[in-house]
Amino acid sequence: MSAYKIEEHTYDVVVVGAGGAGLRATLGMAEQGLKTACVTKVFPTRSHTVAAQGGIAASLSNMGPDHWQWHMYDTVKGSDWLGDTDAMEYLAREAPKAVYELEHYGVPFSRTEDGKIYQRPFGGHTTEFGEGPPVQRTCAAADRTGHAMLHTLYGRSLKEQAQFYIEYFATDLLMDDDGRCTGILAWKLDDGTLHQFNAKMVVLATGGYGRAFFSATSAHTCTGDGNGMIARAGLPLQDMEFVQFHPTGIYGAGCLITEGARGEGGYLTNSEGERFMERYAPTYKDLASRDVVSRCMTLEIREGRGVGPNKDHIHLHLNHLPPETLHLRLPGISESARVFAGVDVNKEPIPVLPTVHYNMGGIPTNYWGEVLNADSENPTRVAPGLMAVGEAACASVHGANRLGSNSLIDLVVFGRAAAIRAGQTVDPNAPNPPTSKASVEAALARFDRIRHADGTIPTADLRLEMQQNMQADAAVFRTDKTLAEGCQKMADTAAKLSDIKVTDRSLIWNTDLMETLELENLMPNALTTIVSAEARKESRGAHAQEDHPNRDDVNWRKHTLAWVEGNKVRLDYRPVVTEPLTKPAQGGIDPKKIAPKARVY
Ligand code: FUM
Repeated sequence: MSAYKIEEHTYDVVVVGAGGAGLRATLGMAEQGLKTACVTKVFPTRSHTVAAQGGIAASLSNMGPDHWQWHMYDTVKGSDWLGDTDAMEYLAREAPKAVYELEHYGVPFSRTEDGKIYQRPFGGHTTEFGEGPPVQRTCAAADRTGHAMLHTLYGRSLKEQAQFYIEYFATDLLMDDDGRCTGILAWKLDDGTLHQFNAKMVVLATGGYGRAFFSATSAHTCTGDGNGMIARAGLPLQDMEFVQFHPTGIYGAGCLITEGARGEGGYLTNSEGERFMERYAPTYKDLASRDVVSRCMTLEIREGRGVGPNKDHIHLHLNHLPPETLHLRLPGISESARVFAGVDVNKEPIPVLPTVHYNMGGIPTNYWGEVLNADSENPTRVAPGLMAVGEAACASVHGANRLGSNSLIDLVVFGRAAAIRAGQTVDPNAPNPPTSKASVEAALARFDRIRHADGTIPTADLRLEMQQNMQADAAVFRTDKTLAEGCQKMADTAAKLSDIKVTDRSLIWNTDLMETLELENLMPNALTTIVSAEARKESRGAHAQEDHPNRDDVNWRKHTLAWVEGNKVRLDYRPVVTEPLTKPAQGGIDPKKIAPKARVY
């Protein structure tokens, strides 16, 4: 594609994305002495981690007794026994170390009276293997924890001489004929130039794909770009059917009201003023795990006990809390409630509704962040030259449902793990593997085709159609019928990509082209979500299938793998890892403690 001149850059490691996971990986890679670049479509401190409010889970025991094994147990139960046990052990064990590292890097955590990191309760986090009271495990910087982390990690990465390529949109992976990733192609948004990044290791840290849905707490930038690149490279996505609805998105606007609000003592009521969670989850009530609370809210609304003129949402009360608590611990959401709901949290409840918040599924990896080119025959086969971390990845540490505040810890634990692994496997003195010319040509040809797309459907129209399909048919509650209809609708919608219309042909700040590239990334995410959901004939975690209301461990305790071919999806499965990393005799958890059982709160 000679019309485009390409500037070439060569690094040991190229990280794509500069949210919490991308920055932690970038910093770690640079600390390992690897020549590291971070390529990001938004300025690092504007990445979506900036919106993470409530905090980061680690069993520091600053507010009372806690233990990494209790954290592991809660994560296993939260995952509804779909998480990989090795990854969940790694997360819970490494969490305190990873948080103290953040503290030493300079994250300005809130403090207790005696100067320790402040921790608050969050849903599904308990003591004594689920037998004791809720635990205060979530380390917080007021309700702006992600913001604090991003600023610190970005500053530290610069100090370690990591190079940032800011407002560069990564379009495709460059793969050689043996399936090794050797780099990426990227488009520089502000001057229109194209860039080939050669790397011994590419780390995808591109976040989730909340914007495949109509209403999400996610930023508009959360378009599953890494997942789209993986799907185009012929690699599988894993467990895409598991989409988390956060119980408290602001009604209408969709912005997040942190679970930390309930952690600090907030509670939900229906139109009768009843604290209905007491009925559904008698022990942990409003602090049951998110999938449970979202379903209970949806049931209350369905049964006619929603609030408001249309009885279509729920109230979150904080007005009984001391104003000092709101000011000190929840200043950000107090402002969000005022701006987006017109509510003074000191006086009135906030109108809330379950809202798409997080993707448990994504790019399959092992607990070192190495991408798996897996299928049922080769469940642990590694794709050389490729890692994925953060929400883009599926380690699988959250299984069918993630606990609140386990996302920020996932970002730093696995961002750090990827760097440790790359320190062992990437040789800074070795030459870079050659990049296949054909892969560059293919990436350029796709870019050029989209840039000149001259069909009849504007990008915004097709995006809206996809978002409405997903909102309607991949919802909190699903049935055989809604999922089958959803599959058909999404196949039809995806087929229309070939008739897309891009009106702006320029290369500089062409938001029309960028949104179309993003839509091409969102579409495989949406397709694999609905097709994987339709196939899973059970209910587990966030996948609540009303025609198959029970969890079925015999047939369905397995990970879904999904490949995209045009507007079709092919499925296969791989087993869940059930072995912990550490034997009980060496201090590991007793396997009986984490054996599958009914999941009640
Ligand atoms: O509610 C929240 O603050 C969100 C946290 C999370 O998703 O981990």
